[in-house]
Amino acid sequence: MSVFRPEWVAAGDPRMAEVHELRHEALFAPFGIARDDRWDDEGEDRRHVIVSRDCRVAGYACMLVATDGTAHIRQVSVWPHLQRSGIGRALMEEIDAEATRIGLQLLWLNARVSAEPFYRRLGYATVSGVFPSGRTGVPHVRMEKRP
Ligand SMILES: CC(C)(COP(=O)(O)OP(=O)(O)OC[C@H]1O[C@@H](n2cnc3c(N)ncnc32)[C@H](O)[C@@H]1OP(=O)(O)O)[C@@H](O)C(=O)NCCC(=O)NCCS
Repeated sequence: MSVFRPEWVAAGDPRMAEVHELRHEALFAPFGIARDDRWDDEGEDRRHVIVSRDCRVAGYACMLVATDGTAHIRQVSVWPHLQRSGIGRALMEEIDAEATRIGLQLLWLNARVSAEPFYRRLGYATVSGVFPSGRTGVPHVRMEKRP
């Protein structure tokens, strides 16, 4: 069992300010992309999960729940100096648990090719060819998992 304790937080939670910073630094800053925090976090279909360490947000993921029993996982991010310590796994396992609790049929995401082995270890299968995606345009693949 993971030592990390994932927590679901509301879009208005004060810790979302730290999430903005983390998302930018982990996902976009390495590509020289200007910070843009417009992510429509308030949408009713959006669920936000964090892992904290030393009272700071260390990792984050967003789950967009659709009405057809599927959910799109986005913005999975861990501070660079904390990567490879199990935080990403803890976030994804909590998403699995939530998917089971609410009866979802399918989880899917567009994975950066560099992160594909991470998701594969967690039971996701690649179901597309490589395509450029999102703000970065870096190569991605679509991956899916049945909870
Ligand atoms: C990808 C990311 C979310 C993974 O989170 P993490 O906390 O570093 O991953 P974990 O430590 O929980 O790793 C879980 C397992 O996956 C492996 N793993 C993690 N990242 C990996 C990678 N990029 N390539 C290969 N294996 C990886 C770990 O070694 C570990 O293996 P184990 O099961 O043998 O112990 C994180 O590294 C990150 O934020 N990267 C930058 C942003 C990014 O690419 N996000 C994904 C966008 S699609």
